[in-house]
Amino acid sequence: MKEQWKNKEISGIACRHYMETDSTNAVIKRLIREDEAPLPLPFCVYADQQTAGRGRMDRTFVSPGGGLYMSVLLPAQDAEKAYQLTPLAAVAVLRALKELHVADVKIKWVNDLYLRDRKICGILCEGVQFNDGKSGVIVGIGVNLKTPEGGFPSEAGAAGALDREDITRNQLLKKILSHLQKAVPGGPCEWSDYESNSLLNFRHVVCRLGNRELSGFVKGIGKQYELLLETEDGETHAVNCGEVTKVRPMARAAFFDFDGTMRPGDSIVPYVAFVRKKKKMPRWQYVLVLLSTAGYLLRILPSTVPKTAALRFRKRLTEEENRALDMEFARFLIDSAYPVALKQWSNYQKAGHQMVVLSASTENYMRFVAELLEADALLCTPIDGDGKVRHNCHGKDKVVRAEEYAAKENISLEESCAFGDSGSDIYILTRVGDGFAVNAKQKLLKKIRGKDISSVSWR
Ligand code: BTN
Repeated sequence: MKEQWKNKEISGIACRHYMETDSTNAVIKRLIREDEAPLPLPFCVYADQQTAGRGRMDRTFVSPGGGLYMSVLLPAQDAEKAYQLTPLAAVAVLRALKELHVADVKIKWVNDLYLRDRKICGILCEGVQFNDGKSGVIVGIGVNLKTPEGGFPSEAGAAGALDREDITRNQLLKKILSHLQKAVPGGPCEWSDYESNSLLNFRHVVCRLGNRELSGFVKGIGKQYELLLETEDGETHAVNCGEVTKVRPMARAAFFDFDGTMRPGDSIVPYVAFVRKKKKMPRWQYVLVLLSTAGYLLRILPSTVPKTAALRFRKRLTEEENRALDMEFARFLIDSAYPVALKQWSNYQKAGHQMVVLSASTENYMRFVAELLEADALLCTPIDGDGKVRHNCHGKDKVVRAEEYAAKENISLEESCAFGDSGSDIYILTRVGDGFAVNAKQKLLKKIRGKDISSVSWR
């Protein structure tokens, strides 16, 4: 059957549209070989379906009907910029998709785009020779727009599709062509869009380089679009050419705030009462606690000051005495925790989450709370060597601490959940995939309005 095609102009580029063809990259190569007149540059061939779509390493690119399969012929780039063409094309597709409100698209080094954990786009750049001896390059881009009936065949691997009724093939084509023309080789914005949307950053991967393999953590993408891979021996390798064959699945964490979330009130209050009852805090120190607390409530002093005052008595005790006090107090805290909170904690623990206590309370007794809960990690307010509290683990600091922990432990925050009760917990609740406002105070209730955060009540 003779192939049917139509010529069009899209985003200022001469295009040829086929309903079906073998491979749009192959069509361009044939046109160069067989046509007498040189093709205009740039020139684009696109199709709704390919019967012999090709991918990198001569693999088949499964190209069912209803997709966008396009190849753009461009003049050859300078040798030192040629390797940037694939990442630039990836950035053009990423920008086009983001403009069409597709969130969560990520670039998997070097030439694939993923939506969540499915590959929705592949890119294949090939050099060509014109009849006049000059050279050019074909940028082949395949985007799966629709999941075929019955799903993708197994040979398509991790393929997925955009599956967005509101996005047409022509809209996407137009935007990709326009972004492809605007993308600047060597441009800092292009690199930064690529790097900040890299799927592999902080993930543990296996990378094939010819006939050897390297495995380790991806530290990021270098300025020349190389994969920066830190191997087990602590060395960082800049990989220019290779293929990531395995990505270790990311773990999930459950972040639990403690005070107000797992038990009522601020634990520093019963802590002071507990210490006073044990006759460990002199009266003058207690007065200092009350005064500094008043200063905090009046917004004159930061919350670190009353905390430091409440811990001052510890300097007079031995390490053993402090330890015994903290352990006993931690037991009291767990005994007064909401039963529902403990039940939820255990549910997430059994479901295999990394269990993290994320609290503004101080480490002296929180470490025993974490121990009693069999937590995997404790992120809380540290006490400096001189006994002073300087950095409260609170508000945005909780996000910083959670992000550091997630990067170190290969945890996806998008797949994780967090529980918190106060207005300042809004940052962590919106940073994770599933945020829960527990017994939300008025301030938090206001902040979660219109956001995808569930409100729960724990008793
Ligand atoms: C890959 O995933 O390895 C790259 C796939 C590239 C597919 C596109 S679809 C348009 C063009 N025509 C082809 O035959 N391949 C590219």
